[in-house]
Amino acid sequence: MQRLKAAIVGATGMAGQQFVQALSGHPQFEVVAMVSSRTARNYAEALLEPDGASRWTQSSEVPEDMAEVPVVTSEAFRPESVDVIFTAVESDVARELEPRFAATTPTFSTASLFRQEPDTPLMIAGVNHHHAELIRVQQRRRGWKGFVVPIPNCTVTGLAITLKPLADAFGLTRVLMVSMQAVSGAGRSPGVRTLDSLDNILPYIPKEEEKVRSELGKILGRLEGEAIVPTPVPVNAICTRAAVLDGHTEAVFAGLGKAASVAEVKQVLREYRPFAGARLHSAPEEWIHVFDDPFRPQPRRDRELGDGMTTSVGRVEPDPVLGGVKYVLVSHNTKMGAGKGAVLLAEALLEQGVFGG
Ligand SMILES: NC(=O)c1ccc[n+]([C@@H]2O[C@H](COP(=O)([O-])OP(=O)(O)OC[C@H]3O[C@@H](n4cnc5c(N)ncnc54)[C@H](OP(=O)(O)O)[C@@H]3O)[C@@H](O)[C@H]2O)c1
Repeated sequence: MQRLKAAIVGATGMAGQQFVQALSGHPQFEVVAMVSSRTARNYAEALLEPDGASRWTQSSEVPEDMAEVPVVTSEAFRPESVDVIFTAVESDVARELEPRFAATTPTFSTASLFRQEPDTPLMIAGVNHHHAELIRVQQRRRGWKGFVVPIPNCTVTGLAITLKPLADAFGLTRVLMVSMQAVSGAGRSPGVRTLDSLDNILPYIPKEEEKVRSELGKILGRLEGEAIVPTPVPVNAICTRAAVLDGHTEAVFAGLGKAASVAEVKQVLREYRPFAGARLHSAPEEWIHVFDDPFRPQPRRDRELGDGMTTSVGRVEPDPVLGGVKYVLVSHNTKMGAGKGAVLLAEALLEQGVFGG
């Protein structure tokens, strides 16, 4: 099968570098262009700071098939020249670029700009990819040939992935969550200052808790007609920044609609296999890994499980206060929570025939 031509926008940033890794050697997408605010011949050159330092922060080298990909500015880029676009830019840049891209071309975005638009689904592959029907509404209302589909804030990803099977099996009555989020989640610009984060926990991340409440509500909501009705389950969160490079850790307390033993909860989480049967290139073999060891999960040890696509869960215990369970999860914020998660969503929508036909 001929691969679809893809472009990455913001490929030098934290989430963008994950797009680069996820799309290297991809069987269905071939990256033919990158879009940057910098003037550079190719990706290798775009990564260089004026002093010669590289912006590449991954532990493996820049993939060979990406180093030579031509880089263009957004003004010079013709979105109709590619079949799919992956964007990893801040919302102010997204506001300028994404509607222009979506007018002609399917666009998968890590930015928050479109997440709460009523005609736009907010999707995580394996959790609510059936909300994709709303894409046709977006196209019709806006007169677009393409579309724009955002993925959620990276703090919401592991939470939604673990709550979805619990909601389906037992029902949810309320949810509380405390996060200890990695510094890479703040990106490079403006990012988190080293002096503030080293040997420290920052107790506040602006706008994050509101995003957890509203985005989780939409993801776990029901598609009714041409709109998503958010789940009525009350959700509250405290989001903190911890001195961890990658991997968000979250302590979750979930009230359940019916009684469930710890063994039943673990079984439901372990048996969650949303893509069983379908072979999606970026999907992990194991969607949720449940540890019995109370000292796991830990971000340093467990964030790379399933190449950063498996959500790790441990400390599953009864919660008598909310009448349900409590647990701790670790989710890789720039892999499943950003670039690679968006690529997996594109694979799922390709499989569903939403685009690429
Ligand atoms: N970091 C995470 O864990 C994470 C997780 C989920 C979602 N997100 C979201 O992903 C987006 C990017 O976040 P990030 O953490 O990757 O930020 P980042 O590290 O600051 O990277 C942003 C990139 O945007 C590019 N950019 C700026 N202006 C541009 C323009 N006019 N045209 C093309 N590219 C432009 C920059 O590349 P050039 O310098 O090459 O122009 C920069 O590398 C944000 O919306 C964020 O909320 C991030």
